[in-house]
Amino acid sequence: MKIFESSDDLQFFLESYKNNHKKVALVPTMGGLHDGHLKLVEKAQALADVVVVSIFVNPTQFSKGEDFESYPKNFTNDKALLVDRGIDILFIPSKNEIYPNGTLLNYEVGPMGQILCGAFRPFHFNGVAQVVKRLFDIVKPDYSVFGEKDYQQLLIIKSLVKNVDLSVSIESVATQRESDNLAMSTRNQYLSIKNRKKAPLFYKQLSKAKAAIEQGDSIELVKQKALSKLSVDFEVEYLEVLNANNLTQIVTNTAEIIIISAIRLGDTRLIDNIVFRRPNV
Ligand code: PAJ
Repeated sequence: MKIFESSDDLQFFLESYKNNHKKVALVPTMGGLHDGHLKLVEKAQALADVVVVSIFVNPTQFSKGEDFESYPKNFTNDKALLVDRGIDILFIPSKNEIYPNGTLLNYEVGPMGQILCGAFRPFHFNGVAQVVKRLFDIVKPDYSVFGEKDYQQLLIIKSLVKNVDLSVSIESVATQRESDNLAMSTRNQYLSIKNRKKAPLFYKQLSKAKAAIEQGDSIELVKQKALSKLSVDFEVEYLEVLNANNLTQIVTNTAEIIIISAIRLGDTRLIDNIVFRRPNV
């Protein structure tokens, strides 16, 4: 596996692949890799001839008082996992390399960036869009792979690509879960043993809400029930049932539904969602 810190060196190396019409896929990450990330890597390998994984803990997507400084870093382990998976290229840029002209936010992500996680993490999605756009500009990938666990992020990146008219194809991978259905996340390692045992109740309540909608219960009722159930064990930031295609309110003929939520458990913030088709719509 080749490791690059400089974007110029990476671009120079990729040039020969591109000249030979080889397809390039990019998997952007912040490290602390787990099997969820590795599923993205697998998909990228299936799509393209050469796969670039980037590890960069992006300062502009963390709000004040969040875990930027303490975000889990385990480069030795990340590297070993990627070598084991036969990854071609690892890109580990410095902050200067990504933001040579400073980190002034210059991306307007629109209304979708202001709701759900965006309402609780001001500027978060502007920071995500900023770094992803910069990575796309450096790597110029044919494909880039993202996880459905960060569903709002996925839709915002898709809309960024459309709005800025980039030629990259955005691909997604279903949320990978632990054996007790907790969505895999780098932040799960913050959980105490007691809270780790409690955490699967999050997905369990989302699954119950899905079952209730499938049985025909009203969206509002399902939402209220799920909120009150979740509030027993967690501090709920939000729980919404929305149109999965654009995160707007559900209307009579909305078939693709997302149940999407963020909660706090101790000091740890967890997000999860379920996307499904409403029967008979
Ligand atoms: P990070 O949290 O490291 O996640 C990198 C990618 O892995 C994202 O596309 C995320 O959705 C995906 N992912 C994480 N957990 C997953 C799971 N359990 N199942 C499937 N996919 C999962 O998301 C980011 O980093 C950053 O915001 C980034 C896009 C790299 C920009 O800085």
